[in-house]
Amino acid sequence: MAATKKIRSIAVLTGGGDCPGLNAVIRAVTKTAINRYGLEVWGIQDGYLGLIEKRLAKLRYDDVSNILTVGGTILGSSNKSNPSAFPVKHGKGTRLADVTDSCVETLKDNGIDALVCIGGDGTMASAATFVKKGIPVMGVPKTIDNDVYGTDVTFGFDTAVTTATEAIDKLHTTASSHHRIMVVEVMGRYAGWIALHAGIASGSDVILIPEIPYSLDKICQAVEKRSKKGRRYSIIIAAEGAKPSGGKMTVARTVKDSPDPIRLGGIAEMLVDQIHTTTGLEAREVVLGHIQRGGTPSPYDRVLATGFGNKAIELLMAGTPNHLVVWKDGKLSSVLITKIAGKIKTVKKNSDLVKAAKAVGTSFGA
Ligand code: F6P
Repeated sequence: MAATKKIRSIAVLTGGGDCPGLNAVIRAVTKTAINRYGLEVWGIQDGYLGLIEKRLAKLRYDDVSNILTVGGTILGSSNKSNPSAFPVKHGKGTRLADVTDSCVETLKDNGIDALVCIGGDGTMASAATFVKKGIPVMGVPKTIDNDVYGTDVTFGFDTAVTTATEAIDKLHTTASSHHRIMVVEVMGRYAGWIALHAGIASGSDVILIPEIPYSLDKICQAVEKRSKKGRRYSIIIAAEGAKPSGGKMTVARTVKDSPDPIRLGGIAEMLVDQIHTTTGLEAREVVLGHIQRGGTPSPYDRVLATGFGNKAIELLMAGTPNHLVVWKDGKLSSVLITKIAGKIKTVKKNSDLVKAAKAVGTSFGA
């Protein structure tokens, strides 16, 4: 495809839950587009919602200065707007309608030739529908969850792991002083990447992830074993999606107008009660929640985000649109968006990191 000559103007959006490093990508996309290719750049507000509601404005070079180190997204984000199934007024209520064509019109009306979608699996699934409509799209994989298929790592993950690790480092002393079991709940949705990495980094005694269903007895045995050895406190890190063997994930709430309505949460509180009842040991829960999504991006995430943003524009202008930029086997590359849309990347039960954690005595409660 000879896309290079045709593309004069691009638009960028950030979709789904925010994470540290989004601004670093927006900056890299915009500066590369302007500096290297003289493109016009538009910023779409609040993800696909802004495209649906025609809320977009030109991004100038100065608009993206001094944002490299700033968390969140200057464009705003939304995880409630899927153009293929968007709630529209219908009689006294609403019905879900496909508004993709109207979004394509908005792009064309503003002379926008291509779209850069920065987001996770939900954002890429919607990006794939624009690819099918003939709009050149580039995807950039974002999420603290690290669950985007096709890339070894997403930006935002390293910062979230650092935040969770620092929090657990602090919990060690208070757990030790009071001889308590601390159950720390981290995010990650249906994947256990944050729990696995922060669990190893913080020397947690038990790591619970969705990919390895746990047994309450095994968790209790692990903390009792430590207790008998004179180690009178334990740290358990639980991914929000961890579940008992044969049981279900703990759902905190459902968000009706979201493409993925389930919000996980509550496992730490549940485990604290169960562990106390079973062992008699005192236990407390700590839910890190959205703190993991906030703050300044780590140096690693700033570097990754800058590489991703630059690569997205390079590939687009080289005539290779419709790809998700990825970090694979130690270098930047790309995969077709339509190949990864709808898939997620989870932790392999027998991965080297799971084996390493077990080798140093960490229990997975299984
Ligand atoms: O996907 C990012 C994430 O933070 C998940 O880890 C978490 O399950 C979810 O988003 C929380 O969503 P919300 O911000 O809508 O509560």
